[in-house]
This record gives sequence, structure tokens and C-alpha cells, in this order.
Amino acid sequence: MVADAGREVVLSLRDFRVTFNTLLGPVQAVRGVDLDVHAGEIVGVVGESGSGKSVTFLGLMGLLPKSAAISGSATVRGTELVGATRKQMRSVRGKRVAMIFQDPLSALNPTHRIGNQIVEMIRAHQDMSKSAAMTRAIELLDMVGIPQPDQRARQYPHEFSGGMRQRVMIAMAIANDPEVLIADEPTTALDVTVQAQILEVLQRIQRELGSAIVLITHDLGVVARVADRVQVMYAGRPVERASVHDVFAHSVHPYTQGLMASLPSTAGERLLPIPGSPPNMLHPPSGCAFAPRCVHAQPKCTDGAPPALALVGTNETACVRAHELESEVIAGG
Ligand SMILES: Nc1ncnc2c1ncn2[C@@H]1O[C@H](COP(=O)(O)OP(=O)(O)O)[C@@H](O)[C@H]1O
Ligand SMILES: [Mg+2]
Repeated sequence: MVADAGREVVLSLRDFRVTFNTLLGPVQAVRGVDLDVHAGEIVGVVGESGSGKSVTFLGLMGLLPKSAAISGSATVRGTELVGATRKQMRSVRGKRVAMIFQDPLSALNPTHRIGNQIVEMIRAHQDMSKSAAMTRAIELLDMVGIPQPDQRARQYPHEFSGGMRQRVMIAMAIANDPEVLIADEPTTALDVTVQAQILEVLQRIQRELGSAIVLITHDLGVVARVADRVQVMYAGRPVERASVHDVFAHSVHPYTQGLMASLPSTAGERLLPIPGSPPNMLHPPSGCAFAPRCVHAQPKCTDGAPPALALVGTNETACVRAHELESEVIAGG
């Protein structure tokens, strides 16, 4: 895999799939995701709403309803999570892999003091006295940038702003030194100033704890700020993967280019949303799922299995026309 060759792979997905059994039939939400996340790196997972970002990571955490059938492989330093028992998952979740979400309020208990909630999280996985765990909780609140952490620890969730609650969620997520931290749209509900502060906290965790961090977002701008590498998803599959620089400097896949064109900072005054909408995953199309929306599509694009990621220049791209498109870009100057 490109980049970070020297770093240890912590989280590894291979042909990871999630299908929901619904009354209308099987919904193929995730259709073969491969991804390696190394110690100390932030990988941005991007794609439009419905592309399977959340379902992938909820699936490997064992947080999906029973209607979800999961296959393939998801390992954390060699420990297989696919097919793990509930008991095994309880010892992994919150300990080896932790997750934070867009809406911190729903994950906090409104009737318990912030400090006690962090203490509970610590004591669920570590044999530590209440007072030692409270000392640790206050250190964690300090680490995520909460002023006067000892006083704040005695307050309730409603006394915290949205940004401060998200900091608390991050403190709880890192309470047991997880090897993998998954942040699912952690800044989507926050205004831009607070968003930047939360992203700085994630970078601090990356630097100081060396966790492998997955940052799920529909916003390429967020990824540009903090990610080391990017995996773009469409219709439940990866379509492009590269370092953040190479994704922005020379994206190859027409879908990635479409996402870039809809970014305010790269499109200038005129925003160009990608026309059309993602496929219905009850009936995913054959071949490339993006073909119906792609200006470069040819009949060969919709033949057979969806294209797999292959190296084209600096980027791994899942497009049967990638080499042609890349040379057109070069020939066109
Ligand atoms: N419980 C469920 N039952 C059936 N389909 C679901 C369920 N949860 C999610 N999906 C479908 O899975 C697909 C991927 O969803 P999701 O991973 O949440 O997208 P996103 O990339 O926006 O995070 C969507 O088509 C969604 O409708
Ligand atoms: Mg989501």
C-alpha cells in the first residue's frame, strides 16, 4: 500500500462487506472494502452520504443490528473482529478500538457528572480505584483542552457547549489508550471555529498517543486539514486512495474529481455539485457504480465486476479508464 511503508499496520480491512436483510431484499451497503491504517496516522474516509462509511466502521465494532450480515476480515493488530463473540467484542470496544460520533449528547448520560462518566469508562476496562480513575479523568479532560478540568469534571453534560461535549467524547474514547480511534463526522454539527479546535485535538492524539485514527467525513475540506491519507468511497466500495497531497494534486477517479469540484476552496466562485444521485443498494449496478453519473463513462465501464483499486501514477484508483484519463489530463496540459 502507498505511503507509511515503515509504520506498523494497526487496523486492517480485507474484502469487508455488510449486507442488511430487509423486507425489500438484501441491501448491499458495503461491498468489499480494503484498508490499512498505520500507527500514528490519520486516514480520512470520504464520500457522499450513503456511501457506506458509517456502516463499515459500525460493522467492525459490532454495533449494527442483527439484520446486518458481515463478511471478510477486519483485524486489529492481528485480532480478527469478524465473527467475534459478543464477549470478545466487549473487551475490544472502548478498549482497543474506540469510536466518537457526530452527536455527543446522545452518547452522554444527562444525569451523571462528566467526571464520573469518564471514570466508569476507565473502570470498565482497567483495574483502577475510583480516586485514581478520577485523577486520570481530569488529566484526560485537560489533554482534550477543557479549561479548569477539575471543576468541569463535577458538571453535567447540559453545562457544556457542543464543542466541549465533543471534547468530552474524545476524552472518553481515549480513556483506555485505544489502538484505533474512529471518528465519524465528529465536527459536522459544529461551527467552523470549533470544528478547527476539535481537529487540533485529534492531531494532538495522533502526535502524543500514536493511535491509528480513522476520520470519517463527507467534507474533503476537513480531510485536507488533518488527514495523512485519504480513502474515497462510493456505493460501498473504495474508488480512490492516496496521500492527502496526491488526492488533491492529481486525483484520477472522476468521482474524486467531482467531489473536488464541489469544494468551495478549489472551485472558486462556482460550485459544481455532481449531477445525479448514488445507486439504490438494493439493486447495485454491475461494473462501476459511478458510471451512470460519470461524464467519461463508456460501455466497458458497466461490464462485469466493479473495478478494483490499482495503482495509476501516485494514486490507487478503481476506474477501468484510469490510464486513458490520466494520459488525457497530461496531453491536455
Ligand atoms: N439498518 C439498516 N438497514 C438497511 N439499510 C441500512 C441500514 N443502515 C444503513 N443502511 C444503508 O446502508 C448504506 C450506507 O449507509 P451509511 O454507512 O450510513 O452511509 P454514510 O456513508 O453516509 O455513512 C445506505 O444506503 C443506508 O441506507
Ligand atoms: Mg455516516
